Amino acid sequence: MARVFNFGAGPAALPLPVLEKAKAELLDYGGSGMSIMEMSHRSKTFNAVMQDAMSGVRKILNVPADYEILFLQGGASLQFAMAPLNLLGAGQTADYVHTGSWAEKAIKEARLVGAVNVAWDGKPDKYMRIPAERELKLTPNAAYVHITSNETIGGIEYKTFPKTQAPLVADMSSDIMSHAFDVKPFGLIYAGAQKNLGPSGVVLVLIRKDLAERAPASLSTMLKYKTHMAEPSLYNTPNTWGIYLVKLVAEWVESLGGLAKLQALNEEKAALLYKTLDGSAYWKPCAQKDSRSIMNVTWRMGSEALEEKFVKEATAAGLGGLKGHRSVGGLRASIYNAVPKAAVEALVSFMNEFEKKNG
Ligand SMILES: Cc1ncc(COP(=O)(O)O)c(C=O)c1O
Repeated sequence: MARVFNFGAGPAALPLPVLEKAKAELLDYGGSGMSIMEMSHRSKTFNAVMQDAMSGVRKILNVPADYEILFLQGGASLQFAMAPLNLLGAGQTADYVHTGSWAEKAIKEARLVGAVNVAWDGKPDKYMRIPAERELKLTPNAAYVHITSNETIGGIEYKTFPKTQAPLVADMSSDIMSHAFDVKPFGLIYAGAQKNLGPSGVVLVLIRKDLAERAPASLSTMLKYKTHMAEPSLYNTPNTWGIYLVKLVAEWVESLGGLAKLQALNEEKAALLYKTLDGSAYWKPCAQKDSRSIMNVTWRMGSEALEEKFVKEATAAGLGGLKGHRSVGGLRASIYNAVPKAAVEALVSFMNEFEKKNG
């Protein structure tokens, strides 16, 4: 078996111990004589899996008791719509911080629902930086302030979150569970699982319970957070397999020593890669220094032909998924939790060799 170092942006690398456990339990989960995928989502056995996944997330992220933890479907993309549909009342305005491609999609969906104020737009800097809090033009009494904690495509990430009067709503798809943060300023957090939490097909939602009451009665049942809170994530058939993997990933995070340990490791991995990028003019890192993501590292090279050659040779050397997003080109290494330090070391050493040969 030759597993490559996977730098893909998502679906992304999963921890090897998680995959091995899932493999061992695939045919017979916990002595039930069936796979977790074949069993009722209302069974006692699956219920225990769901409870473990929820309590794992609650413990790792230190989620207060007045927040519900949900595992929904439709990806983060459906959350772009569900957030305003539930939280943006008639006559209200929602503030959105436009930091790049994912923020733009969130804004587009919110505009279909109600009034949106773009509190800051990173266009003049080509979406290569996160704004300072003082730059935000916030609306008094806004329904909420939406941010994208990590722009997966651009490779920029908030180091601290703005303090706002209105509850923060965040798309944390690509950096949740990579570093510690305080949940309390947030009214709603959502994250597609396919980067740091598990497989695609599950979206983690953390919602402050009182905010779910804002949903208009006329909103479709499936689109109301309230519906999914009543019987946590069991209103309809959830992605049982995905939730099971989230449970295993949470157990893996705990086994490493929790979020603080993981954050230190992530920072170390990112520092190694940025050091190489800063070490020679051959590499052209994209994000402004103080906004650099520790999850998605983006850079350019002298020409597109060289970038193509780099990706091709890296792939042949067992370093996969380094091509930048199709909308922007360039190179991107996604170094999520499950990407080991050895992968980054291998990448850096490949880069040094590549520069020697082609520089
Ligand atoms: C920050 C961010 N938001 C939203 C999405 C969209 O997620 P999904 O494909 O699960 O709808 C992605 C996908 O990569 C993302 O990186």
